[in-house]
Amino acid sequence: MAIEKIFVVGAGLMGSGIAQNAITSGYTVVLNDQRQEALERAKLGIAGRLQHMVDKGTLTEEQKEECLNRLSIDPRIAGAKDADLVVEAIYENLNAKQAVFEELEKYCKPSCIFASNTSSISLTALGAVTKRPERVVGMHFFSPVPVMRLLEVVYGLRTAQNVLEDIQEVGKKMGKTMILAKDKPGFIVNRALIPMLNEAVEILDEGIGTVEDVDTAMRLGCNHPMGPLALADMIGLDILFQIMQVFYEDLGDTKYRPAHLLRKMVTARYYGRKTGAGFYLYENGKAIGVNPVLTRDHALA
Ligand SMILES: NC(=O)c1ccc[n+]([C@@H]2O[C@H](COP(=O)([O-])OP(=O)(O)OC[C@H]3O[C@@H](n4cnc5c(N)ncnc54)[C@H](O)[C@@H]3O)[C@@H](O)[C@H]2O)c1
Repeated sequence: MAIEKIFVVGAGLMGSGIAQNAITSGYTVVLNDQRQEALERAKLGIAGRLQHMVDKGTLTEEQKEECLNRLSIDPRIAGAKDADLVVEAIYENLNAKQAVFEELEKYCKPSCIFASNTSSISLTALGAVTKRPERVVGMHFFSPVPVMRLLEVVYGLRTAQNVLEDIQEVGKKMGKTMILAKDKPGFIVNRALIPMLNEAVEILDEGIGTVEDVDTAMRLGCNHPMGPLALADMIGLDILFQIMQVFYEDLGDTKYRPAHLLRKMVTARYYGRKTGAGFYLYENGKAIGVNPVLTRDHALA
């Protein structure tokens, strides 16, 4: 099936990145959000980033105008009626995503594919609330979408093979390298990454190494671009905790139990970079040192 028109639901970090990547790849895109201000901000952000590409010489002024002409914003789900593909990128919440899929079902043509950018929610569970479970699929992009090369394609229990082939075409046109993953918590990337970050917190909690040494270990010993505790702060300790909780409940193995210190950090509202404190303290988004609660001397005076 030839896919030409894409409807993106959710104009946040991921939705606006997906829309940008799609228009620069030749697709016509309608970007939707329930908040008009999110739509205005996303449109401005995309125009600004395309202008930056013009300034750098990677896009001509004419190409920029063509791309922007292929982008429109619409706060109504009914705007999806002509779409060949919907990519949903709203909050990571099963009920909210299912409600969007039920709503889309009222307006979309029967051939339209429903994709979700979910990081952890079951595609089988999203497909189950539609009349087209075989046309529901995961398109897990990474942030920032126009820069990150990977697209994790996830198939639910009822996803049809020809739908995977259509998504493969879209991914190729958007310049992505694709991997195929079965519908199980975390898929491939987060199933490998998130428990590793949790284990780094465990290592810190057991006093095997300091915050800096745990991060230096993985940067210099494994060539990771960023230490696991710094990365955990960037993702958000609350998000990391929620994902581990899903793994623990869904996969039922104690090896996925959230680290005790991770739970404590979240209880204390140390969520990482976004709250200015996690394993590190932050000023204007930059780490200025280790959070002193993790280094204090326990001896009484
Ligand atoms: N942030 C990441 O690095 C990342 C990476 C991969 C996947 N994801 C996944 O992408 C999805 C979106 O994440 P994000 O970081 O872009 O979130 P975000 O909070 O930046 O954006 C979500 C947007 O969805 C809108 N929205 C919420 N409910 C809506 C509805 N019913 N209809 C229309 N719009 C609605 C909100 O107004 C908001 O603008 C999540 O499922 C997340 O797990 C995120």
